[in-house]
Parts: sequence; C-alpha cells; structure tokens
Amino acid sequence: MLQKPRGTRDFLPDEMEARRAVEWRLREVARRWGYREVCTPEFEDLELFTMRSGEGIIGEMYVFEDKGGRKLALRPEITAAVIRMYINEAKVAPKPLRWCYYADCFRYERPQKGRYRQFWQFGVELIGADSAIADAEVIMLASDMLNATGVRYDLKVGHLSFVKNLLKDVEPEIQRKIRAQLDKKDFEGLNLTLDSMNKPDLAESLTTLVACQDLNEAFEIAGAIPERERIEQTMGYLDAAKVKYSLNLGIARGLDYYTGIVFEGFADNLGAENQILGGGVYRLAHLFGGDDVASCGFAIGFDRVMVSLGESAGKKDTVAAIVCTPEARNRALDVAKAFRSAGIRTEMDLMGRGFGQQLAHAAKSAAFAVIIGQREVESSEVTLKNLQSGEQKTITLDAAVAEVVASGSRG
Ligand code: HAM
Repeated sequence: MLQKPRGTRDFLPDEMEARRAVEWRLREVARRWGYREVCTPEFEDLELFTMRSGEGIIGEMYVFEDKGGRKLALRPEITAAVIRMYINEAKVAPKPLRWCYYADCFRYERPQKGRYRQFWQFGVELIGADSAIADAEVIMLASDMLNATGVRYDLKVGHLSFVKNLLKDVEPEIQRKIRAQLDKKDFEGLNLTLDSMNKPDLAESLTTLVACQDLNEAFEIAGAIPERERIEQTMGYLDAAKVKYSLNLGIARGLDYYTGIVFEGFADNLGAENQILGGGVYRLAHLFGGDDVASCGFAIGFDRVMVSLGESAGKKDTVAAIVCTPEARNRALDVAKAFRSAGIRTEMDLMGRGFGQQLAHAAKSAAFAVIIGQREVESSEVTLKNLQSGEQKTITLDAAVAEVVASGSRG
C-alpha cells in the first residue's frame, strides 16, 4: 500500500474543520488590524532563500531542477518571498504595507510531534514603517492572534543589539555560534567557546544578560547601544497596551535576516517543539534589488498551535439528517433546501436505506432527524426528532428550521 511522504500528514474532515475554525480566528484578527492577505508561489528560485536565510534553513531545503535547468526550492518560509513580491509588484505603493498570509512551507527536518516536513504558517509582514510604534504594533498583533486561538503561551521579546554589542570584537562566525549557544541556554558550550577565544570574562556578562528581566540593568551590562531610545519606546508601548511578555535578550532566531527587535512565542503544554511563533525586525529588500526598506513581521506555526489546542479546537457543526420514505422524497428535497438555506449542514440518505436504518444512521452522525413520511407530506409539516434527548414533535418547516438554528453548535 502506498503511503504519504515522511513528515507530511493527511487531514480528515474533523481535523480540517478544527483547523479552518482556528485559521478564521487568525484571519479575523489580521483583518481588524488592517493586514490584507497576499499569496506567493509555492516554489521560488533557490537563490531567494540562500541569500540570507542562514545555514540551518539552507540545509533543510527541498531543492530541485526544472526541465529548463532552473534551480528551484519549495519555500522553507514565506518572508523572503513576500519581500521579493513587494519589490516586483508593490515598490511604489503607499507605505506602510500591512500584509498577511496563511500558507504551507517545506523543511527537510527530522519529523516528530509538532515538527513536520510540510507545515503551515500564518504570518504577517509590515513593510516600510521604521519606528518603535511599528515594532510594537507587530508584537501587539502577535499577542492578539495567539490570544484569539485560545492557546496558552509565553511571549518573549528581545533585541539583537545587546549581545552584538558585547561581542563586537568577535568574528562573525564565532558570534553566530555564541548566539546560538545563548539561545539554547547551552552555558557549558558557551564557556568552552569563550575559553577557546581567551575571553572567559565575557561569560558572566552574557549569562546575566540572558537572564535579565530589567531593561535598565540590561543596558548597563551591554554598554552603549545606539538603538536604546527605540527599544525603550517599543517596550513602553507594549507595557501601555498591557501586552503580556517577558524579556529574553538571548533570542537569536534561526534565520539570518533579523536586525533589531526579535520575539518568540512558546506554548505552555508542548514539549521540545514548543515554539509556536517567531519574528522580528529585518531588512531583506535591498538584497533583492529594492530600496533598503525596514520591515517587521512574524509567523505562527499553525500546526503547533493545533497540537497545543488538542481536542479543544473548534466546535462541530450541527447536522440535520433528513429521514424519509421513497414517496416523500420530493418533499424531502424541498425540506433539505430550507435547512441548507438557513445554514444548517443537512444530509439525505443516498444508500436506499429503509426508514429504520436511516434513523439508526442519523443517530450516529446527526443532532436532529427531520422525518418526512406520508403524514408529513399531507400536512405540509415535518417531524423533528432531537437525537440526543429523543424528544420528537410534528411542527411546521419554519419552526423546525428555527429550532435547529437556535440549538447552535453541538460542541
Ligand atoms: P521561523 O521561526 O523559522 O520563522 O518559523 C515560524 C514558526 O513556524 C516557528 O515558530 C514554528 O512554530 C513553525 N515551524 C517552523 N518549522 C516547523 C516545522 N518543521 N514543523 C512545524 N512547524 C514549524 C520564520 O519562518 C520567519 N519567516 C518568521 C518571520 C516573518 N519573521 C519575520 N516575518
């Protein structure tokens, strides 16, 4: 028997309904903040992702050559593609641009719960606004979106300049290594790296910085940082808006294009793969042939949010099953139409089942049976049976539709 490729998933209707329900909550928050949906190709020129994504992601890419000999890659993330699109299509549009997307990405990672080779991101990119209030808006939106999903999480906000300032005399390759060690809280590895560079004295500043929860103290440890005012303003706005976050100046991010504020969200109830959101301020446009425009954005790991929500995600539709005799079928079609017009998921027997079998099947799949026999055809009424309580009554079609609509979702 053929199986799906490793690291991919099939989604059955229950799961798709739960996913769509959460997706629409995210879409609604994005809409309210003025972020409008864009869509980019599933694959791009390989170069788009090799320019500034960082080694980790480059090593995980699905790369292929098309029949014209072009080197292409399935998108491992969407930010680079969105910025390419901005340069191609919208360079002269009034700023800022507020864009969002919900799309799948591909990374050749070792699959496990919450880590897949095809996964979905709900992301936003704010392009062309270079200010503290812009950075704060994106973080407020991140917090609003995660709140809307119902997931329980911690939001950590940091800024790359603190660690960069402490490491300004260290060569870029080692800086990257140290930043990754700090991000993972691998202090043993960090000490080894610093020892090998003859800079053991940096260990204390770096480890204190990573644990630091007070911005003023962090500035004291890291020394003079040109972005200080902007950082203070951004955090000030977050505090004023009562965004729940904590400081983490050790955040390094896995992608190489970030330049300023960075932030990550972690679900409370997930294990190793608990990072459900990542983002920050970045500059990419100038690398792709555009002007050096400032941007800020984030992506929510949609699949991880769904794992975190578990069974609590989404409510099931109320289903009305039409149960009829063969003679009543034409009337049943009209009745089904009325229920569907009122927005109710309505199903009719297609298997030639007898009356009793139809009712037994309805009991497994529906909340209500709408029974139409000879008597109901003659009286132009329907018999509505609540399949949970067993209660049944013969009423007008309008009254039956109203009752099912009023019953709401089954939960
Ligand atoms: P990222 O942190 O690489 O950032 O990915 C964003 C989120 O996607 C992660 O926090 C995680 O929840 C989810 N994710 C990543 N890899 C996997 C996987 N293999 N399986 C399931 N979920 C995964 C970005 O991609 C940036 N483009 C975010 C951004 C937007 N920065 C600025 N704008």
